Amino acid sequence: MDLVICPSSPLLGKKISESLGIKIANVQYKRFPDGELYVRVESNENSHLIIGSLVSAEDVILMDLLFDALKGEVLPIIPYMGYARQDREFLHGEAVSIRAIAKIIEERADIVITVNIHSNKAKESFKKLIDLDAMPLIGEHFREKEIIMVSPDKGSAERVKVAAKVANCDWDWLEKKRIDAQTVEIAPKNIDVEGKNVLIVDDIISTGGTVIEATKRLYELGAKKVESACVHAVLAEFAAVKLFSAGIAEITATDTIEKIFSKISVAEILSQKIREVS
Ligand code: R5P
Repeated sequence: MDLVICPSSPLLGKKISESLGIKIANVQYKRFPDGELYVRVESNENSHLIIGSLVSAEDVILMDLLFDALKGEVLPIIPYMGYARQDREFLHGEAVSIRAIAKIIEERADIVITVNIHSNKAKESFKKLIDLDAMPLIGEHFREKEIIMVSPDKGSAERVKVAAKVANCDWDWLEKKRIDAQTVEIAPKNIDVEGKNVLIVDDIISTGGTVIEATKRLYELGAKKVESACVHAVLAEFAAVKLFSAGIAEITATDTIEKIFSKISVAEILSQKIREVS
């Protein structure tokens, strides 16, 4: 068995190869002048791990090309499963993107490993998806720190609870309360944040809009310092700059998407699971 590393996950791939003692396959990636992508895998192994987050459309094409190039068995590790937020037909005629992605992957592999896929609904698009939870790692990173963990909405509250339990800190979520027809008030459900250090925890930071709205409100309520942590730092549209402008003191993320903010690695939880299933 060898490990094929996609361009979206180079460092995480290297860590996993070291942890598992598996060699990295030699892969040529190339772009033709017209923009088309090309891959060539120089490997004589007949079973392969592939690691690569699906952050962009290009990542999906590359993975599909790799599936075609590889001989024998394939175990895909997709640390960030993009397209999972389009997990249903919100408007008539829309593609269920994650279902389309699942088809591409499952045509080639029986099992897929990922980390914190966006929703249970997205999970249902796969026949056998192993979805690992990086929230305990976030908890570990902030263990015994003087913080309150806050989920920006009720939907992410269960995830935040897991991180807070490991960190041994208090946690809460921001609740939207309708005051009248024109006014919606957002506030932590149970905890007073005045004078406190608050960590907003979410699965994904994409445009940063969710965290920025929460940050502004937490400062209005008297929070001393607000920082943010997430599993998947998509950070689209200059989100990091916008977060810092909104007063976020620090951004912490895992390396499911490799960014300068990737202070926590999912390499060990992935390696452990790969050992179990292969
Ligand atoms: C929403 O359901 C997710 O948990 C995140 O809160 C959301 O995807 C973040 O997106 P953005 O950074 O664009 O607000």
